[in-house]
Amino acid sequence: MKKVLLGLALMAPALFVALAAEGPAIPLGLLPVRFPKDNPYTAEKAELGKLLYFDKRLSADGTVSCASCHSPKFAYTDGKAVSDGIKGQRGGRSAPTVINRAYSLAQFWDGRAKALEEQSIGPMANPIEMGNTHDAVVKTLKGVNGYKKLFAKVFGTEAFDINHVAMAIATFERTVLSGNSPYDRYKAGDKKQLSASAVRGMDVYFNKAKCDQCHEGINFTTNAYHNLGVGTDKPNPDDGRFAVTKNAADWGAFKTPTLRDIARTAPYMHDGSLKTLEEVVDYYDKGGLPNKNLDERMKKLNLTAQDKKDLVEFLKSLNGEGW
Ligand code: HEC
Ligand code: HEC
Repeated sequence: MKKVLLGLALMAPALFVALAAEGPAIPLGLLPVRFPKDNPYTAEKAELGKLLYFDKRLSADGTVSCASCHSPKFAYTDGKAVSDGIKGQRGGRSAPTVINRAYSLAQFWDGRAKALEEQSIGPMANPIEMGNTHDAVVKTLKGVNGYKKLFAKVFGTEAFDINHVAMAIATFERTVLSGNSPYDRYKAGDKKQLSASAVRGMDVYFNKAKCDQCHEGINFTTNAYHNLGVGTDKPNPDDGRFAVTKNAADWGAFKTPTLRDIARTAPYMHDGSLKTLEEVVDYYDKGGLPNKNLDERMKKLNLTAQDKKDLVEFLKSLNGEGW
């Protein structure tokens, strides 16, 4: 345990806090969740955050909640290439899952938000997502007696502001976890959990295709940014990470997403341009899409038809539970 604590401390000195004695149940295959010192876990806070997360009154016209685009029905995504925001408006990016966000140090496809506290109130004031203002959100919530009581219970004050809203939603987000998948149970020793095809697919994943160069660890991501070429053949391609760092090497690079529950979160990639896991595997097999900044790890894989089928079977074994 000490070693794990030390490891985490070295990874994220600024964010590191002692693991709360109390916290959400952690499914098999995951690590305990770290809660920031200035926003520790309480069950009541997570519960309040959950109410807010599903509440459409957070949007300007009462039509959109966080769950409109990140719904448990689709493993906390929306099943669409790009989301419908308020008044049917659309952005250029696909809604990522909210699952296992607690294990990531940066949020959004380009990593522009660090803490979940910062991320969680952004959508409310985004003109094409929830179209509201933070002042209006707080005013609406203060007009709801039930919320006044809950905020008072959780934070000890009825004079709450947008930061308290952010803390509650972020706490809820840190409890949306996915683990205990057939793969986790297989790794823990129950060899019956994976079919022969999924076991062969695991070998393709780790050895032949080396997907774990980027998708590795408990959450199947290094959290690093890479250019796979997705969307670079479209007019006005998305700058990706470049917009944040202004570093030419980051052009067209996006945050490596988790692969947990991946069979439930189609369509895929930052622009939702690949419809199925089979299409994703074909995309990698041909080595991505050549462009001025293609990641050097993207190479033709020469997978057989059987390899591809097996790899998809393996990916399906990452469907978990906990959320
Ligand atoms: C209109 C659809 C929409 C609504 C409403 C919405 N989101 Fe999102 N969300 C998105 C899209 C699209 C992205 C990706 C944006 C990007 O990367 O630039 C995103 C990104 C995120 C991320 C980052 C995930 C990651 O892997 O980096 C989190 C967490 C998140 N949203 C939580 C929320 C919360 C909490 C709310 C409510 C306060 C909310 N969202 C409301 C569409 C939406
Ligand atoms: C060079 C790093 C890298 C390698 C190697 C890699 N991936 Fe990815 N993967 C990414 C990045 C980055 C994205 C997001 C790219 C984008 O949207 O532009 C992604 C996206 C995905 C997605 C879509 C996720 C979603 O939520 O939309 C799947 C599925 C996937 N990868 C599976 C695989 C498989 C299977 C392999 C091995 C054949 C693999 N990846 C190899 C970095 C990598």
